[in-house]
Amino acid sequence: MTTENRLRSLPSGGTAIVLGAGGIGAELVRQIGASGRFDSTVVASRSPDSATVEALVAEGRGSVVASAVDVLQEQSVAGLAARLADAQAQIRLVICAFGILHEPGRTSPERRLEDLSQDNLARIIAVNAIGPALVARHLGPMLPRRERSVFAAISARVGSIGDNRLGGWYAYRASKAALNQLLRCTAIELKRRAPGAIVVALHPGTVDTSLSKPFQSGVPEEQLLSSDYSARRLLSVIDRLAPDDSGGFYAWDGSQIPW
Ligand SMILES: NC(=O)c1ccc[n+]([C@@H]2O[C@H](COP(=O)([O-])OP(=O)(O)OC[C@H]3O[C@@H](n4cnc5c(N)ncnc54)[C@H](OP(=O)(O)O)[C@@H]3O)[C@@H](O)[C@H]2O)c1
Repeated sequence: MTTENRLRSLPSGGTAIVLGAGGIGAELVRQIGASGRFDSTVVASRSPDSATVEALVAEGRGSVVASAVDVLQEQSVAGLAARLADAQAQIRLVICAFGILHEPGRTSPERRLEDLSQDNLARIIAVNAIGPALVARHLGPMLPRRERSVFAAISARVGSIGDNRLGGWYAYRASKAALNQLLRCTAIELKRRAPGAIVVALHPGTVDTSLSKPFQSGVPEEQLLSSDYSARRLLSVIDRLAPDDSGGFYAWDGSQIPW
């Protein structure tokens, strides 16, 4: 399937918004922009002036615009919503593609209880769970009431409680489990308020980005996806979603993941 065929299930025109211009987020922006499906694609990043974001804007030839957002600052999420409202944007697609697992010199995933720290737990949950919840808080009420739209957040299979057999990575796992619950609540509420909206948690696979870099040694080569391939598969999952899928947790290959 070519990029041009993607996202046909969403009404054409309007605005797509991708938050986070990391490995997966940047690829999503590139492919959404290339699909020509939307009038504009907003790439929301803490660093809208970075070389990555500037390249995405240049490649998009005017259909990709940058916006400054740091989800640790709620006003910046509210500011994005206000800019979209001022532009009378018809929001068709929102993808939260930001998240942290480790930060050099600051945090790394816990292996044992003694590694837990209040600061680390709070920071990772603030970005990975509260961040998308704030995006839903500010952009959810702007989704069209009847027309089809999708609100997706990139979660992680390790956030599945039913699938947790290895333990460890306490803060990251807990943040993604909390994200999944927040998305499920959002899906239930939006079913009443905006029945056309589909809300999902997505697992991108193990993807070769800066987030997974320090943990790739045990990953078989064939299981390490490129960000280009993962983004392609995620967009095709989004394209196949039906209203009854809202509130679910899906992997890059379309399979459902247990909570
Ligand atoms: N890579 C994997 O194997 C893998 C597996 C499972 C799930 N995931 C999930 O996929 C998502 C994308 O990860 P990735 O692999 O693309 O990692 P990445 O390349 O490290 O990108 C993550 C991006 O998150 C954004 N971010 C971090 N803190 C933020 C904040 N306070 N406010 C706003 N944005 C913030 C940053 O974008 P800006 O610099 O543009 O702000 C950063 O580039 C994450 O949710 C991650 O948990 C990844």
